[in-house]
Amino acid sequence: MTHSVGPGFRSLSTEYDDHQPQVEGSIPDWLAGTLIRNGPALFEAGSTRVNHWFDGLAMLRRYGFDEGELRYSNRFLRSEAYADAKAGQLTGQFGTDTRGWRRLVDTLTSLGLPEPTDNANVHVARIDGEFVALTEAPRRIVFDPDTLDTRGEFTFKDDLTEHITAAHLVDDPHHEELIGFTTEFGLQPQYHVYRLPRGSRGRERFASLAARGPAYIHDCSVTKDHVILIESPLVLSVRRALNPFSQGAIDMLDWQPDQGTRILVVDRETGVLVAEPTLSATFCFHHVNAYVDDENNGEIVLDLIEFPNSEIVGAMSMGELDGEGFPEVPDGRLMRYRIDPASGTVDRSQLYDGGMELPRVPRAATGRRHRYAYGQATDRKGANGLVKVDCETRTAQEWWKRSVYVEEPIPIQRPGGDNEDDGVVLATALDVDREQTALFVFDAETLTVEARAWLPHAEPFGFHGRFFSDV
Ligand SMILES: [Fe+2]
Repeated sequence: MTHSVGPGFRSLSTEYDDHQPQVEGSIPDWLAGTLIRNGPALFEAGSTRVNHWFDGLAMLRRYGFDEGELRYSNRFLRSEAYADAKAGQLTGQFGTDTRGWRRLVDTLTSLGLPEPTDNANVHVARIDGEFVALTEAPRRIVFDPDTLDTRGEFTFKDDLTEHITAAHLVDDPHHEELIGFTTEFGLQPQYHVYRLPRGSRGRERFASLAARGPAYIHDCSVTKDHVILIESPLVLSVRRALNPFSQGAIDMLDWQPDQGTRILVVDRETGVLVAEPTLSATFCFHHVNAYVDDENNGEIVLDLIEFPNSEIVGAMSMGELDGEGFPEVPDGRLMRYRIDPASGTVDRSQLYDGGMELPRVPRAATGRRHRYAYGQATDRKGANGLVKVDCETRTAQEWWKRSVYVEEPIPIQRPGGDNEDDGVVLATALDVDREQTALFVFDAETLTVEARAWLPHAEPFGFHGRFFSDV
């Protein structure tokens, strides 16, 4: 039986403030802090529906843990884009144009200042003590982590050029900095890689790399010594965007598989491009993690979710998602690339047979050798599971429940715990039959459910979140 995933893409109008859902099972007492997630939750202005999932209006979701209790809030970001939608105008720039995209293209082609959307619906980060909602357009919104109230626009104190920017910032606890990148269009497009030291709002650019295209790049990873970008042949073509029927960034995207996929390995100290091997064409949204394998001649190990092509991007248009189940496109695969920077060669192997997306490792494993990768298991009909892959033994544990769609899992280590999987995995999951979302607390070692709390409504599917242990 195929389940409609409709509730995952249905607009929500209800906002809860500090709702205390009943908890079945028990949340460990040591778990204190707040998970804040971001994602689209309003998909229409009047009777007009957005064309692409990425254009839904941002809603923050807060799950506060304290002494075994859970408190839940959800609140739309009061962005200009949200106000426009409430006034009947959709300004989404990924695949829905009723206003803004044409101006963005006009300004991009003249290399003037774009007027990007402020619908920051992809991710969250703490920057210079502020909680910030992020998207790939270069505008960010500050919010209150307790009330989720919108505080206003966030601006960096630097002059880094960014026509498109990364919503995924790598939070490296070992270097006490965030790592990110921006993309600059122009005659010679470039990727600018930067660090953002804790307590600063000035991005320090340490590498500018000549881009092919440029490509659409969604994420990056770090080792203790490197930053790694995957430049797939999914190219952002300004020329294609000039098509009068263009409805957004999606119409700029041009799959050019003959170019292959280039791995950009940048020295984190010097900014030097130390390796740039090219593979046959693949596409990647999300990196899992990377590290230097000192036991193997300093090879760089990069785990990521690989797609054979870019069909997944078009598959997330609302025209596809409003049908029964998810559209039939290839699932992402958990792959390991072993990169030898000396020879520029890459050994590529698959770590897990199933489909997988939205991968995470515990925060402390960032840029260090990780053993386990957690993610959403994606290759069954009528559900998305939770998977834990042992990247050493290449074995996996999975958790599934019919009609339940697990979202991005966040592994959290128990303070003082020795093992990487001593802790819990937090994940929201939508039961599409019940039309209700629950917050699950899984044992990170066994994936048994330690606690479950039904939220007072069905949350539309979100994208990404972070756990803040001191909020
Ligand atoms: Fe993402």
